[in-house]
Amino acid sequence: MSSNTPVAQDDHLYRHKGSFFLKKWTTPEFIDSLQDFKIRDDDIFLITYPKSGTIWTQQVLSLICSDGHRNGTENINTSDRVPFIEFPQSCDVTDYNNRCSPRLFASHLPNEFVPQGLKNKKAKVIYVMRNPKDVVKSFYHFQAMVVDAQKSPDFNHFFEKFLNGHVYPGRWFDHIKGWYMNKDDYNILLIKYEDMIKDLHSVVIQICAFLGMELNEEAIDIVIRKASFNEMKMDPLANKKDFSGGTLDLNLGTFVRKGAVGDWKNIMTVAQSETFDKIYQEEMEGLSLDFTWDATEWIENK
Ligand code: A3P
Repeated sequence: MSSNTPVAQDDHLYRHKGSFFLKKWTTPEFIDSLQDFKIRDDDIFLITYPKSGTIWTQQVLSLICSDGHRNGTENINTSDRVPFIEFPQSCDVTDYNNRCSPRLFASHLPNEFVPQGLKNKKAKVIYVMRNPKDVVKSFYHFQAMVVDAQKSPDFNHFFEKFLNGHVYPGRWFDHIKGWYMNKDDYNILLIKYEDMIKDLHSVVIQICAFLGMELNEEAIDIVIRKASFNEMKMDPLANKKDFSGGTLDLNLGTFVRKGAVGDWKNIMTVAQSETFDKIYQEEMEGLSLDFTWDATEWIENK
């Protein structure tokens, strides 16, 4: 198996300029139009490859930025608090020009598709990444819940699709490298999912400092409590109840699923893991990026 394996057809995706997009939510024309989307200096963009902790960081950001939310307006859908720039129809205020500042946006877009105005601007970008072996496992469970997606009959089938990038928005390696290698073009904070698992308090403080937000200890404690795995696991909105039915079949799984580091070991065979390692080494050579693959690394290093 390699990234040269022919990709299987998946009717819910279309290919555009080397990436894949969701037919149900976007058109190539709309994606291209985002290049000219007018950025405000106080805009905040959360960018992730899927299954890297997007909903978690959406929750953290909206808690940090909204006093009101911390004080009990959390029944606003996540997609309205931090809408995806590429899916405006998924939220209530679809004309983003009418949203109040500071605007929070999420996106899975590869770096070449985001608004040009984000470059060399004061607007802030938070890029969250996660070790890709856990990403592929999380994605495998998620795709089973997506109503229109071509279902993978087993993990190996999805593993191949993932390596080939035949998923929205394309190859994990391309996404990470595109953003990482062009990071100096942006006012950007890079965060790792595993660091959030290990020490959310420190990451929240780091995000507040980057955003220039001053929260007292009590407010920070509320952010951490309301963004904890257990709270979010019980929260219907964090579990995308607003997408239930048409987009996601929530009878087939939960969005906030396991939240673990190293869960890939429960599904990947040794052969799959070795294949992955080989491709990873080839793709990531020369990049000073490393990931935590297993939580036991922390225990051993203590
Ligand atoms: P798992 O499927 O491995 O459990 P995204 O929002 O980018 O799609 O990422 C979803 C992943 O983030 C899922 O991973 C989900 O369980 C995890 N997640 C969501 N909220 C979390 C939280 N509060 N703490 C830890 N992980 C969380």
